[in-house]
Amino acid sequence: MTLFPDMIRQGMNTSILGRAIQSGAIELEIKNIRDYTQNRHLKVDDYPYGGGAGMVMEAEPVYRCYEAVCSEAGCVPRVVYLTPQGTVFRQEMAQEYAEESDVIFLCGHYEGIDERVLEEIVTDYISIGDYVLTGGELPAMVMMDAIARLVPGVLNNEESADTESFSDGLLEYPQYTRPPEILGRRVPEVLLSGHHENIRRWRQEQSLQRTRQRRPDLYQSWRIRSGDGADRQQE
Ligand code: ADE
Repeated sequence: MTLFPDMIRQGMNTSILGRAIQSGAIELEIKNIRDYTQNRHLKVDDYPYGGGAGMVMEAEPVYRCYEAVCSEAGCVPRVVYLTPQGTVFRQEMAQEYAEESDVIFLCGHYEGIDERVLEEIVTDYISIGDYVLTGGELPAMVMMDAIARLVPGVLNNEESADTESFSDGLLEYPQYTRPPEILGRRVPEVLLSGHHENIRRWRQEQSLQRTRQRRPDLYQSWRIRSGDGADRQQE
């Protein structure tokens, strides 16, 4: 649900997600909230009660749009409202949403949406990070991308999701392709060795090292989860 359907259409119809929509692995229905206004001028926003800068999206078109979506879907899906005030989106949440049959993403603009319709319909308040964007469309697309790639049939074997960053809570190891030397740098010898067990060990070590250096927060959580936390706290 958006006031900028073209933005979503263009963003979602390319590359892997475009292919997934074409093949029917996922379905995307874009609703223009403006189509649900009942005034002649198609006005969707108004001045904030109590004064202040900017305009607030009106409750009515948002609610009518929501009712239309539910009636077409034949169910009452979770409604994600994209807002910097929400819970910060994480990989585990992407997995949860990927298991839902339907999810509604509500994109706000201007100074937000009338609180009363949010209270009425929103189930999940989600932020994609601690910064402020101009609207909910990019965050909705970020979420849809992260969720869709976990839906069976969206990625093919080569693109498969399970060895990538975060699938086990660690960052991915570095990748190399031909030539064996460029910019005065050689590919790590072990990758040319054909020794699968050594390659696996090297990659695991790189993942750990990289996560510890770049994302100490993730590294700590991984250690706690893998029972490696208590005895090596001082390391
Ligand atoms: N809308 C504006 N900024 C946002 C953010 N960081 N996350 C989600 N929705 C937003």
